[in-house]
Amino acid sequence: MGDTVTILGLESSCDDTAAAVVRRTIGGSPEILSSVVAGQTELHESFGGIVPEIAARAHTEKLDHCIEAALKEASVPLSGTDAIAVTAGPGLIGGLLAGLMCAKGLAAATGIPLVGVNHLAGHALTPRLTDRLEFPYLMLLVSGGHCQFLIVHGVEDYTRLGGTIDDAPGEAFDKTAKLLGLAQPGGPSVENAAVGGDGGRFAFPRPLLDRPGCDMSFSGLKTALLRTRDRLVKERGGITRSDRADLCAGFQAAVTDVLEEKSRRAVAVYSECHPSAPAFAVAGGVAANRTIRIALEEVAADTGVRFVAPPVHLCTDNAAMIAWAGLERFRLGLVDDMTLAARPRWPLDRRSSPMLGGGKRGAKA
Ligand code: KG4
Ligand code: ZN
Repeated sequence: MGDTVTILGLESSCDDTAAAVVRRTIGGSPEILSSVVAGQTELHESFGGIVPEIAARAHTEKLDHCIEAALKEASVPLSGTDAIAVTAGPGLIGGLLAGLMCAKGLAAATGIPLVGVNHLAGHALTPRLTDRLEFPYLMLLVSGGHCQFLIVHGVEDYTRLGGTIDDAPGEAFDKTAKLLGLAQPGGPSVENAAVGGDGGRFAFPRPLLDRPGCDMSFSGLKTALLRTRDRLVKERGGITRSDRADLCAGFQAAVTDVLEEKSRRAVAVYSECHPSAPAFAVAGGVAANRTIRIALEEVAADTGVRFVAPPVHLCTDNAAMIAWAGLERFRLGLVDDMTLAARPRWPLDRRSSPMLGGGKRGAKA
């Protein structure tokens, strides 16, 4: 292996088709030479959620174009890459297969090594790409398909401290938006609608806060919101703009309170690892929410832990994180062959039992 490693990364586990080129020179900072993301929001819009078959077909159509664009933008020919990293799981099986077939085809035709990447590891290792964070650090991965606290000890070594036992918060934001007639993706719509709203007007539950540990639950919140909306409609014949703002603010406050309190507990457990430079990092689309971000930042400040939040475009699904996680594996000599299989379920912490439930965005690992 030379001083410079250049990796092509591919991502197709959910509803974003992405390709990226990342380079690392020994002793230097990692560089994202390109990161191309083609979303599919408009394809799924009229169905009110992601349709796995439509997603898989779209990945097959878009992957080639994304790869071509990523290599061009990086000014790197395919032959100039040292490995092809591809998301092998967890996620929707059709999308994973589309990515794997594409990566295997390129690897077979060129002889370039293949590296299978766990999508969650891509998110979890992103702070090392953006902020050169050292192991171990605490990570809250919070998106439309995932929600878990992890101690990241190494590239292949994770301890899950807890996670959602049902919906992911992003999924709850999306469902809330749908119930209130707001646009998808629901996170930004609900956040905007909540501005000026009274978060204390409706008493939404804070699930599992009364129980010890770091597990979370968000599905009851959505039911509480549905009941409140229906009561308002029954009593007054509809909901006003200010009712909607109060509902959104109340829902957001409940999610924030749960994430904040559970983060406090996770930081306490992680601190027992005695890291020399303790850090709490977040990733995933929900980390874009300003109220949630401020609350998590406060937890870090209160506990004397450094807070790391990668830029939003690297928190949401992208292929730069897959290329980076692939680069980390490649440098440890961890490459795969043509038997690399898609794994719809693939927990990062092999010691802990799988979380319950699955969703439209794929299995909860
Ligand atoms: O990480 P991501 O792009 O994809 C995966 O789910 O893996 O996250 C997308 C999720 C969506 O559910 C979206 O509604 C949510 O992140 N999201 C937000 C915000 N921006 C995106 N949730 C709350 N507030 C936001 N500002
Ligand atoms: Zn993701």
